[in-house]
Amino acid sequence: MKPKVFVTHIIPEKGIKMLKSKFDVEVNKAEGIVDKKKLISGLKDKEVLLSLLSDTVDKEVIDSAPSLKIISNYAVGFNNIDLAAATSRGIYVTNTPRTLDETTADFVFALILSIARRIVESDKFMRSGKFKGWGPMDFLGFDVFEAKLGIIGMGSIGKEVARRGYYGFSMEVLYHDRSVDPSAIGFKTTRMDLPDLLKQADFISINVPLTKGTYHLIGEKELKMMKKTAYLINTSRGPVIDENALYKCLSEKRIAGAALDVYENEPSFVKGLEKLDNIIMTPHIASASMQTRELMSVKAAQNIIDYYEGKIPEGLVNKDVLK
Ligand code: GLV
Ligand code: GLV
Repeated sequence: MKPKVFVTHIIPEKGIKMLKSKFDVEVNKAEGIVDKKKLISGLKDKEVLLSLLSDTVDKEVIDSAPSLKIISNYAVGFNNIDLAAATSRGIYVTNTPRTLDETTADFVFALILSIARRIVESDKFMRSGKFKGWGPMDFLGFDVFEAKLGIIGMGSIGKEVARRGYYGFSMEVLYHDRSVDPSAIGFKTTRMDLPDLLKQADFISINVPLTKGTYHLIGEKELKMMKKTAYLINTSRGPVIDENALYKCLSEKRIAGAALDVYENEPSFVKGLEKLDNIIMTPHIASASMQTRELMSVKAAQNIIDYYEGKIPEGLVNKDVLK
């Protein structure tokens, strides 16, 4: 009998095809967030879970699945999974590293350029028929070239953001990351403490994973340190920013603007954000290119195949299971 796999959502076909040749695959066709009941019933008698970052795979879910052997998360982030609960059962947890760094960094720049040059706001203006002719004072934005780019979290995504800023826009790159040495980056950057970065940067991009240590890393106090002309960009995880504090800061125009792709309680967000002109909001799509999403499906499938072939999956995150 082939091992049974539960895939919580439709993902690009390439990965599913790889799995179908070796496993008995059930793909849940629902849209939006899968509730816990559905997750638990789908997992019944399955050895493999292919989950999304929006699926909460907590201890209750893990405990409900006695046959579960591997959880392959279709994402780089894995804060949606209770790693300790999985590890204590010897269940492998994998992610899809090195699939979306470039795609996400492109998107960070899409957000930087859009918020700084007021693209979304002016597009709405055009569509509503308000354009009456070229105006010297209309939609004045902020220059991206040669500005100071502050990166919080210099991991593989942060580095790609830095590279685009440095080579593409001649930006001065500042970053905050205790574990990455400037000599490992390959071009000129300046490492600094978070308060210094907050005080100096014109564009701040958050590229850290969500952990206990990064929860509400940016709150009222940190927002107050930012320059009045600075912009905050978040493509990591919503809870890294205190969203209520950000709303207050934006509505009082204490910073120039923010661009968010992620939210504290997805899919909802703090009420009132949608009324502000100094924010751009996108629905967690930083990795959403056809190429990247297909590659993620291949990596998620390969992690499962590797496990069954007795190899250490490339994306293994809870390495303690090997002990
Ligand atoms: C996207 O947010 C991911 O973690 O893959
Ligand atoms: C702008 O369109 C200019 O010509 O300055």
